[in-house]
Amino acid sequence: MSILLDGKATSLKIHDELAVRVKEIKKEGGKVPHLAAIIVGDNGASRTYVNAKVKTCEKVGFESSLIQLPEDISEVALLAKVAELNNDASIDGYIVQLPLPKHIDETKITLAIAPHKDVDGFHPENVGRMALGLPCFLPATPAGIVELLKRYEVPTEGKHCVIIGRSHIVGAPMAMLMWQNAIPGNSTVTVTHSRTTNLKEICLSADIIIAAIGKPEFLTGDMVKEGVAIIDVGITRVADATKKNGYRLLGDVNFEEVAPKASFITPVPGGVGPMTIASLMINTLKAVDRN
Ligand code: GUN
Repeated sequence: MSILLDGKATSLKIHDELAVRVKEIKKEGGKVPHLAAIIVGDNGASRTYVNAKVKTCEKVGFESSLIQLPEDISEVALLAKVAELNNDASIDGYIVQLPLPKHIDETKITLAIAPHKDVDGFHPENVGRMALGLPCFLPATPAGIVELLKRYEVPTEGKHCVIIGRSHIVGAPMAMLMWQNAIPGNSTVTVTHSRTTNLKEICLSADIIIAAIGKPEFLTGDMVKEGVAIIDVGITRVADATKKNGYRLLGDVNFEEVAPKASFITPVPGGVGPMTIASLMINTLKAVDRN
């Protein structure tokens, strides 16, 4: 029987812990954390994510600002908005929701965000500090996974951790966190990607698999060994006429096949997703101190 890594329940616990801290801050007359989110255009998934982030701010007692900008905004105008937020002392941290429209250079925007307000942890200064194990904002998804591994005491030391996917948001930072000298951490890490030729063989030797490629039900039962710990980062909308909203969410892991062999496994939804938002809130609280 596998243990379900319940990201939903864990994130609710973190929300409660944050709400307690906000009450203390208010009592002490300190600064209440304020998160701003920029969203450009009308991407349905992005809107859902950003709305969830703003709602969580309200729930834990943070202040929040949602800045909705038109799809056809120029890069220069978006950079001006970023500069405005950098200089706004009332805002402790902010995010620019990705992806951005094609005519805007995401790297240019990321580089313009003040590192001390970069609660997404995407700026090279934060990425570099993470690589060196220095204090920084950890990117929310990897940080949420680490928090889940920590709270469920999933063994990582000396284990073979296989990461599927090398994205800058999940795969690459996740590798750094799993090999760092820490608990969770101290794993032997293999990062696999689209050019990996012997993926099944590598996965079969894994004690921990972190799947982050966005291909629904990609990891099947025949690809994992007994006792593996599974972290499923995938969250793909698949059309489903039986659902009220017309879609259902699928992870990168075939849960039915893999769960019976796993020691630990995250569900989708309710696994990594809610932890990501909880991590963003933790970073926003941290940002108050960094500013
Ligand atoms: N798009 C998908 N995930 C993220 C995230 O964590 N932050 C931002 N800003 N955009 C995203």
